[in-house]
Amino acid sequence: MTARIIDGKAVAEEVRQGVMKGVEDLVKAGKPRPGLATVLVGENPASQVYVSMKQKACAEVGIESYGQVLPATASQADVEGLVKELNADPRINGILVQLPLPAGLDEERILSAINIEKDVDGFHPLNVGRLAQKGRDPLFVPATPAGVIYLLQKELPTLEGVNAVVLGRSNIVGMPVALLLVRANATVTICHSRSKDLPSKVREADVLVAAVGRAEMVRGDWIKPGAIVIDVGTNRKDDPSKKRGFRLVGDVAFDEAVEVAGAITPVPGGVGPMTIAMLLQNTLRAAKMANKMA
Ligand code: GUN
Repeated sequence: MTARIIDGKAVAEEVRQGVMKGVEDLVKAGKPRPGLATVLVGENPASQVYVSMKQKACAEVGIESYGQVLPATASQADVEGLVKELNADPRINGILVQLPLPAGLDEERILSAINIEKDVDGFHPLNVGRLAQKGRDPLFVPATPAGVIYLLQKELPTLEGVNAVVLGRSNIVGMPVALLLVRANATVTICHSRSKDLPSKVREADVLVAAVGRAEMVRGDWIKPGAIVIDVGTNRKDDPSKKRGFRLVGDVAFDEAVEVAGAITPVPGGVGPMTIAMLLQNTLRAAKMANKMA
């Protein structure tokens, strides 16, 4: 069997079109354009690339972006002070503090300083806590996990009762994905670097979400035939045939898994494009909330 390839780029484009229309509707209703502030501290090259991709995506759907850059030497008070200014700025509907922050800064305190109504990344402890609690709803769900669930629900409209295995327990992906799967009534197993006998756990998965950041760790013979595989990994693998000397691969050995799975996301072109699309969607929602239209 050869798996269906889940085209995250195409799905993300649909979401972006919806956001663009929502932005134009707001503007037609006489409201200001939604605004997203990005906060980049230091000079992490990957973070610089991600932030500029987010700003470009904002421009493409009509959202204003306000790029704020602080040096790696910025103090805790500098970063918190900037977040507070952005909280008070009515042009800004969403605040995104790009992670990771330079060593020495207290990430939890900085994320806690964001007004939860502007927390479009969904990383404020109150939003995370609500995500984890029955009968509570966060104002925003983190973008990559929201993108994972969006792709999954296109494949399987109900996740109720499915065996889902999440590889990874990071704050940004693994843990919120697991919480979202629980909220969708899946039976969820979270595996991580200390888990024993990963292959046998993964073989139970009707739905597998891999978010560990280890190139091609999951082999084809770990996968249950017909499973849906969502690969969040983006890892560099040496490839002398490429001009830049490497290519991007996921956490799943795609060429093997595609022969066994029912559906699978490619890397690149799977989950990656969804992250930005869901961030744009969250920013539009924040703007609608600020204008009492959501
Ligand atoms: N670093 C890696 N992923 C993300 C993300 O989704 N949001 C932020 N703010 N930082 C990240």
